[in-house]
Amino acid sequence: MTVIPNIVILTGAGISAESGIATFRGPGGLWEGHRVEDVCTPEALAADPNLVHLFYDRRRAALADVVPNAAHAALARLDRAWSGELLIVTQNVDDLHERAGAVRLLHMHGALKQALCAGCGERFDWQGDLPPGTACPACATRALRPDIVFFGEIPYHMDRIEAALAEADLFVSIGTSGAVYPAAGFVRMAREYGGATLELNLDRSEGSGWFDESRLGPAGQLVPEWVEQMLSR
Ligand code: OAD
Repeated sequence: MTVIPNIVILTGAGISAESGIATFRGPGGLWEGHRVEDVCTPEALAADPNLVHLFYDRRRAALADVVPNAAHAALARLDRAWSGELLIVTQNVDDLHERAGAVRLLHMHGALKQALCAGCGERFDWQGDLPPGTACPACATRALRPDIVFFGEIPYHMDRIEAALAEADLFVSIGTSGAVYPAAGFVRMAREYGGATLELNLDRSEGSGWFDESRLGPAGQLVPEWVEQMLSR
């Protein structure tokens, strides 16, 4: 009997770079013009809600101008075809994985097209702008905010992610610098649980030394090649 490996895939900004969304830490990164602490912390939201909401309004609007690339499409193909356990964990707040057709997907840093009520904790699909003071449809408090995990907040779905890593035979990290925890620690977690580890990235990430194998190049090329390799096993 052939055993089908369980796979956990972590993606970061690099997988969306070829779609035209700037990465965070590259030249012209997403924080350009803003210090990260001015737009991505709870303190920033409290101090200047107009600036923070506008920043995410612009990024939400910009999603209309981009489309999934070959790397998103390849992961969606793998998701459809893979009969073993598979989980795509993305740090990205864009919607390109789901637009490509991925289903077994978790957004650990939130999603631009969702709003979160800081009052009651409900989440809502959101299109268009989200002005500060927008009333929550569930509890009516005026506490809706972009559903983005700010620095200092706990990423979403950590229990499910850790459970998947514990069962993973293969952990694959795609297009992430390995600069932000807890995601940057997933490779070590996967290793401790006995999984093989593979990095697909334009250049070596900060945690590159923890991976069994690193393939360097653009995701639009490396990811379809890797998916083809997995599906033709
Ligand atoms: P980074 O901007 O830190 O890293 C992007 C990585 O993608 C780098 O290692 C690049 O070399 C690589 N890269 C760039 N273009 C690529 C391409 N075409 N193909 C493959 N790789 C490419 O982005 P993240 O690691 O995703 O958090 O950043 C992690 C978190 O930091 C983000 O989720 C965000 C930010 O603070 C929140 O917003 C909460």
